[in-house]
Amino acid sequence: MLELNKIYQEDCLQGLKRLDDDSVDLVFTDPPYYQYRAQNLTRLKNHGDVVTEFDFDGYESEEEYLEFLENVIAECFRVMKEGASGYMFCGDDFVSFINRMVMRNGFTFRKVIHWHKTNPFPAIHTRRMFANSMEMMVHFSKGKPNTWNHKHVNEMHNFIETPICMGKERTKHKTQKPLKICTPYIEISSNPRDLVLDPFMGSGTTAVAAKMLNRNFIGFERNAEYVQFAKDRLKLIDSK
Ligand SMILES: C[S@@+](CC[C@H](N)C(=O)[O-])C[C@H]1O[C@@H](n2cnc3c(N)ncnc32)[C@H](O)[C@@H]1O
Repeated sequence: MLELNKIYQEDCLQGLKRLDDDSVDLVFTDPPYYQYRAQNLTRLKNHGDVVTEFDFDGYESEEEYLEFLENVIAECFRVMKEGASGYMFCGDDFVSFINRMVMRNGFTFRKVIHWHKTNPFPAIHTRRMFANSMEMMVHFSKGKPNTWNHKHVNEMHNFIETPICMGKERTKHKTQKPLKICTPYIEISSNPRDLVLDPFMGSGTTAVAAKMLNRNFIGFERNAEYVQFAKDRLKLIDSK
């Protein structure tokens, strides 16, 4: 078993193999998105440092991307305890693929959570399309969830509205998620000292949320620069 409260700089499929069966209480993750028009959009001129959600991440084809995700989901099933929940972010174009994948791999599909970004990357008039202001999170479980820290009924909608990650919280990671959309679900679906796993840590948002909530975490991230962002963010919590 790997040491807790560390982010390992490695490919998650290799890293996951080093985790024991039935050892994880919650998976909370945000895999790279396969976006068809990613490269054209990010090449638009005059946007300076405007952050977009588009991330091609080197997949040659949709098939290759889906096969990779399915392998990750199968490994998550193996390492999760009976009764553990999983949350996986995705764009609206892939939500039904992910629903099917989790079910094919033994999970129970529970709900799609809709995140409305109040300040999305603006829709470009000339492209004649709406702004990409919604992202989804598929909630699934291995059997019936055994942890459900129910909040007030009005906070239990499958809809959440926040701005994209901004200000002091923001690192240079292109697709950093705000803590505000991660913390509530980690709190609902895990207990203090539980183990939260994120195979795609990016700038470490899941680790930061887990640490703030007194949960343990393990993460994988293949990009060394992003691992450093995450370490810096975790250090900042210690210094407060
Ligand atoms: C959508 S981002 C996650 C962002 C994260 N939620 C945050 O708030 O910073 C996906 C991350 O997965 C990483 N990644 C992609 N393929 C990977 C793999 N096979 N193993 C580990 N990390 C991977 C990318 O480098 C990227 O940082």
